[in-house]
Order: sequence, then structure tokens, then C-alpha cells
Amino acid sequence: MRYGRFDDGAHEYVIERPDTPLPWINYLGQEEFFSLISNTGGGYCFYRDARLRRLLRYRYNSAPTDVGGRALYLRLADGEFWSPTWQPVRRALQAYECRHGMGYSRISSTYRGVSAAVTYFVPLGQTLEVWRVKLANRNARPIDLQLFSLVEFCLWDAWDDQTNFQRNYSIGEVEVDSGTGVIYHKTEYRERRNHFAYFACSAPVAGFDTQREAFLGAYRGLDRPMAVEEGRCRGTVAHGWAPIGAHQVELTLGSGDEREVIFLLGYAENPPEDKFSAPNKLNTARARATIAAHFDSSGLDAVLDDLHAHWERLLGVYQVGTPDEHVNRMVNVWNPYQVVATFNLSRSASLFESGIGRGMGFRDSNQDLLAFVQLAPPLARQRLLDLAATQLPNGGAYHQYQPLTKRGNDAVGSGFNDDPLWLVLAVSAYLKESGDGSVLEALAPYDNAPGSETPLYEHLQRALRYTLERLGPHGLPQIGHADWNDCLNLNCFSSEPGESFQTHSDQGDTTKAESVFIAGLFVLAAREMAEISRHFERAEEAEGYIKAADAMAQVTMQRGWDGEWFLRAYDRMGAKVGSRECSEGRVFIEPQGMCAMAGIGLDDGRAQSALAAVRQHLATPHGLILQQPAYSRYYLNLGEISSYPPGYKENAGIFCHTNPWIMIAEAMLGHGDQAHDYYTRINPSAREAISEVHRCEPYVYAQMIAGRDAATHGEAKNSWLTGTAAWNYVAVSQWILGIRPTFTGLQVSPVIPTHWPGFSATRIFRGATYHVDVRRKGPGNAVSLEVDGQPIQGSIVPLPAASQLEVRVVATIC
Ligand code: BGC
Ligand code: NOJ
Repeated sequence: MRYGRFDDGAHEYVIERPDTPLPWINYLGQEEFFSLISNTGGGYCFYRDARLRRLLRYRYNSAPTDVGGRALYLRLADGEFWSPTWQPVRRALQAYECRHGMGYSRISSTYRGVSAAVTYFVPLGQTLEVWRVKLANRNARPIDLQLFSLVEFCLWDAWDDQTNFQRNYSIGEVEVDSGTGVIYHKTEYRERRNHFAYFACSAPVAGFDTQREAFLGAYRGLDRPMAVEEGRCRGTVAHGWAPIGAHQVELTLGSGDEREVIFLLGYAENPPEDKFSAPNKLNTARARATIAAHFDSSGLDAVLDDLHAHWERLLGVYQVGTPDEHVNRMVNVWNPYQVVATFNLSRSASLFESGIGRGMGFRDSNQDLLAFVQLAPPLARQRLLDLAATQLPNGGAYHQYQPLTKRGNDAVGSGFNDDPLWLVLAVSAYLKESGDGSVLEALAPYDNAPGSETPLYEHLQRALRYTLERLGPHGLPQIGHADWNDCLNLNCFSSEPGESFQTHSDQGDTTKAESVFIAGLFVLAAREMAEISRHFERAEEAEGYIKAADAMAQVTMQRGWDGEWFLRAYDRMGAKVGSRECSEGRVFIEPQGMCAMAGIGLDDGRAQSALAAVRQHLATPHGLILQQPAYSRYYLNLGEISSYPPGYKENAGIFCHTNPWIMIAEAMLGHGDQAHDYYTRINPSAREAISEVHRCEPYVYAQMIAGRDAATHGEAKNSWLTGTAAWNYVAVSQWILGIRPTFTGLQVSPVIPTHWPGFSATRIFRGATYHVDVRRKGPGNAVSLEVDGQPIQGSIVPLPAASQLEVRVVATIC
């Protein structure tokens, strides 16, 4: 069952009824100010950091789920009121539609002859959210219509906001400019803050409220505010308790009349010496100028056009036309769109991530870059340096850093031994995309300590050394606290309820538990490093990295091979994890994908055998399961992975992030049908038709789909902020469609389904636009290329002369 449809031409998903199984959200904002907005207008926004600079309060884990943040109400003279975005009032609307587009959302509805269309977006270069409310009277007679707005302010620090009531019920402060109706939220501005929020309305304001209880009335919720029911705000000024911003607008609309009302919700800063215009009086001069600049409908049209142009530019980097509409719409629109969200927010703020705990993940952000590098190389470059600055002198890394301060997060610390290796892959992806070797010389400190700077190249060297200096009894890398699977806590041995595995410190001797996954990742990273050395004037070092990679590959084949598939790990006692010797957790997906991608066992049948094991043990119609058989009880030596009930998350859920590794491996082995089949199983667009099962948004990937052992097999959770986005994009665009950047040029080496007659693509790469036309002549994957009409050797299109801006490539596969 569907709840909407794709409008491919407009790059929108159109939700046709408001009661989607879960709130289906969009992200607004592309630089520093971000908003989450659901298909019924719910959500919140923040400046840079969802914890420390959150403007709006949001009630996670609430019923209904999507409560808090922002709201609009319409009221007719007879007293009937409704929300034009359906929530929070939830009156049955006569028409409803939500269009989530690239950086904007538009919710339209009709009730009692009043049509409303609310467009929400964050203008480029601004730290504010615009709500454009267009109202039209479709009745035959004139109407008196009231419009009420509501935002509930978070007292900035979202953690403190939800915990420290004895203080916060007394600290909230606002200022209201009764002339213009602008409501300023200035909690803590008198002390250490230089920032405040404003909520402004373009129409004359007939009333306002800033105290939540006065607006709602005691014992009432957002669905039935007293002020709306009675048609009259109280003009309250909040002193403590729960500051809100609410406006009351009176409109008389003749039959057929249309009116636009604009609301602006913004974040503003003042320089320290210019904070006040009078003692304790907010200096609002800058904010007022920004507001005035945005209360202009035709000006806002231009701002929206800029936003559209921005996204067209980003998406234009890679466009394809294939016989599969699900491939086209994910590659052309939604997958890169999601990649941008993961780049901006890592795993911090979604409807599954509170924005309070987890900042920018080290391994997460590095993997996000694998797909992001092509969209905005300069931003990717800066991110690489920020990440490198949270590496430790020993080459390890903080597992997370805080977006506002860019400092490593002490609460979680380091010791996730795969972390530093992802930096090598991310730098390599950036170099292949941009050719910008200067980044290797750019200086970055360790642990953000001034004076400790070295070139980025040395950060990569230390990352690889970190693994080699931490080998276990079988010569495989020590897992430390955990590896990619941060629930495989082999050194944790926690028996206390409620302990966080993420912050729990390892116990006893941590030098024994080993990860085959890290071994595969090391081989991949060391081979990339060899290439980097070779191409950027350090050829003498390449040999050493190749040797290290080969040696690790050997150890992996000897000690990390289980007979039919790659082992997962050895625990502290030397027992195997992910082996046919185990009664549960016999086959894990991660080492099969990673080792094959690293080239281990590609030429002796092992990779082939490992992939066959995946097919046999892990494949379901809803995607590939992380591990089988599921753990049916808690294992002290394994930790969190066995805390989850069978079929969920790392305990035999379909952890979508790992699926593309298998797709890539299948493509490397030339299995285009299989790779595409796996791709389709988790492709959100292909799952749209079963939205009542999948339940999450059909336009973005979710982290997890419940596995075969779960009661809710096929149900997705944790949409949006997941490494699935970047890796699926890499798998489909670079390996199945086969168009991938290399150090020396653009490779065109598709491994597509046998029944595809071909496809076309345009790819902007290092300043030139490649028009690629792929034609299938036979059932195999052998490719011959013609570049600008001339046949060339191999599958890499060499870089053209700087003056050549268009390159035509015809790839024949047979
Ligand atoms: C999640 C991770 C998280 C970990 C610890 C895992 O199940 O996939 O995102 O870091 O739990 O909470
Ligand atoms: C989600 C985390 O963000 C990521 O770092 C981790 O690799 C996966 N969970 C698997 O545990």
C-alpha cells in the first residue's frame, strides 16, 4: 500500500494522506541552520548543533509521535478551527497533500472552502526558517478568518531543557515588540549567550502570547488551545515556565481572494559589545534588518529559485537514464539528497536520534564522505581536516566529535579500532574525485591540540600504523572496544543493566579479541594508501603499504577463513565468532563484504564462496541479514549484539549499511543480476508499494529493516541518518553502473543486469562533463570504450586537456 507517489520531474515526494505510518520527514537547510519537518508540519530546528543551539522544543517518544515544535491554526467566525497541516488539531481535511522537495516542504489542504498552502524552507546563506502561508477563500461568500501561529521555544540546551526543570521553569525570558509583533526569545541572553531567536509575522498582528499555559489553557494540549478555541490571544509575556511564540492574525477574504502571510523563525547573534540597546534590552537591529529583507513575496520567489538552482547544480553532477525507474530516482535525486543530510548531520538529529547525545561520528562522517565528495569537494576537504583533528597522536580517533566545538567527545572516547582506517578511504575518495593533492600537505592537529599539527598525509600513516601496532594472538587486528559493528563488544563483559555499551570501558586484557572485519578494512585502506603514495610523489612508500596489505590478506586467509566464509572475530578466550563451530551467530555479513572488497580471495574462489554463503544464509526478500542464526540469549563475551531481540538491529536485523558491500563484491565478481537484485530489495522506492510493512519514508534509506527472526520482518526503522545512504550510492553509481573516479581518469566499467540493453549517464568530473552511452552487445561485462569517437585501451577515460569541457564516451559491453 502507498501513502503517496514520486513526482520525478519536480524532484518531490507527494504524500497524499496525513496519517502516514510514522511521521515522514524532510530536512531543510543546507549550511548552518537545519530544520526537521514532518508531513504534518511537526519537527524542530537548530543552529549548527541540535543539542546546544536548538530553537524549538520537541517531545521525543511521545504520543502521538510527532508533537511539539511548530503549529498553525485556522479559525472561522463560527468558532470552528483546524490545522492546515492536519496536526496538531487533526480535523479530517477535505484535501491534503505534502510535497517534500529539495530543501523545502509544501503542505496544502482545503477545509470549509479555505485552501491553504504552507511552504517551509531555509534560504541559502540565512539562519532562519521561512513559512509562507498562502490562503484562498473558495467559498461563494466573504469570510472572516483567523490565523494563529505557534512555536515552543527550547531553552537552547536540549539536554538541560529536558532535565533541569527546577532552574528552567524560572529562567525563560522573551521580549515582544508590540509594534511589529516580533517575538524574541532571549533566555540566558543576560548571561553568557550572544544569541537569541525571533519569530516574526508579516501581517499586522492582532494578538500574541508567549506563555504556553496562557495560550493553551490549563490541562489542554496543542490540539485544543484555549486561545484558538476562543479566537483571542491573551498578550502574555513569559516569565519562566515555557516560553512560546504565538501570533493572532485577522483576515477578511472576499470570495476568491488570496492572501499571503509570511512567518520567519530565526537565529541571530550580536557581537559582545553590542548585545544591548539599553540595560537588559535586546539589541534587535540586525534581526530587524534580516526580517525586513524577507517580508517580500517576490523577493522570496527569487530566494526559492536560488534554492532550486542550488539543488539542480548538486544533482547535476551525476544523472542517469536506466531501464529501472527505482535506480533512476534514487541515483538522480533522493540518494544524493540523503547523502547531503548525512554529511550535514552525521547521526545527530532525526526522529530516531535525539540530537542530544551523538555528535559527528568519526567513522560515520568518513563513510558519508565517500559519496559526498563529488557534490561539494571544498566542504568535503574541510570535513576531512576537522575529522583528522580529532585523531589522537597514536593514530586512533575519538569516536565522535561535537559539531559546535569540533572537539572530540570525551563521554564516548576512543578505542573503536576500525575508526582511523575510514579516514584513509575518505581521503582517497576525495583525491580521486578532485585530484587535489594539496590536501595531503594541509596541516591538522591531533586531539585539537595547538602545536601538534602534521600534514594530513601523516595522519593517514598513523592511522595505518595504529592497526599494525595492535595485533592479537592470531596476527589479526585487535577489535578494541568494537569495530564497525559497535554492538560486538568483545572486551566489555558487562552484566549490569542499563550500562551504555558505547561508553562502557573495556575490562581486563584487551589485546586478545580480534576482528576479521578490521583485517579486511586494513587491506583495503593500505591498498588505497599505496595508490595515494604512488600518485602523490611518495612512490617509495607504496611498496611498504602493498606489503603490509598482502601480509594482512595472508593472515586473513589463514586465520580468518572458516572453510566456506570469512570468520567474524576471535573473542578474548580465543573462541571463534561467526564460525560454523558456533551454535548461534555462525555467519556474519560484514567480513564477507569487506574482505571481498579488499580483494581477499577474489582469485582463489574464497570470495565467491563467501558470497554464496551470504546468498544461502542471509538473503531475504527484504534484504540481507547481518548475521545468522540470531542470538537467542545474552552472551557476556559478545555484549550488546545479543541484547537485541532476534531480528532487530545488529542481532540479525537487515542492517542496510552492509548490503551495498555485498553488492559491490558481487559486481567485482561480475554478477550484475545479483548485485542489482540485492539493491532492489532495500531500495526505498522499490519498497514504496509495501509502505504499510516498511513504514518509514519511501524516498530515503533506513538504517535497519527487521530481519527474518523478527515478528515485524520487513519493517524499517531509523530512516535518514545512516551510512546506508553513502554506501548504496557508491554501490549503484560506481560499481553497478560502474562510473567511478580514479586517480588517472573516469573509469567506465558497468556490471549491469543482463536484461538491460544499456543506459546513459552524464557525470561532471574535474570540470568536464562526460556523456556516457552504455550499449549491451552480449551478456557479459567485457567493456570496450570509444572516447570522442576514438577507441581507447582499458576502461579508464584519461583526463582531457583542461580546455575540453565535454567528453563523449561510448561503452560497449559484451
Ligand atoms: C547502533 C549504533 C549505536 C550503538 C550503541 C547500535 O545498535 O546501531 O548506532 O552506536 O547501538 O548505542
Ligand atoms: C550505527 C553507527 O552509526 C555506525 O557507526 C555503526 O557502524 C553501525 N551502527 C553498526 O553498529
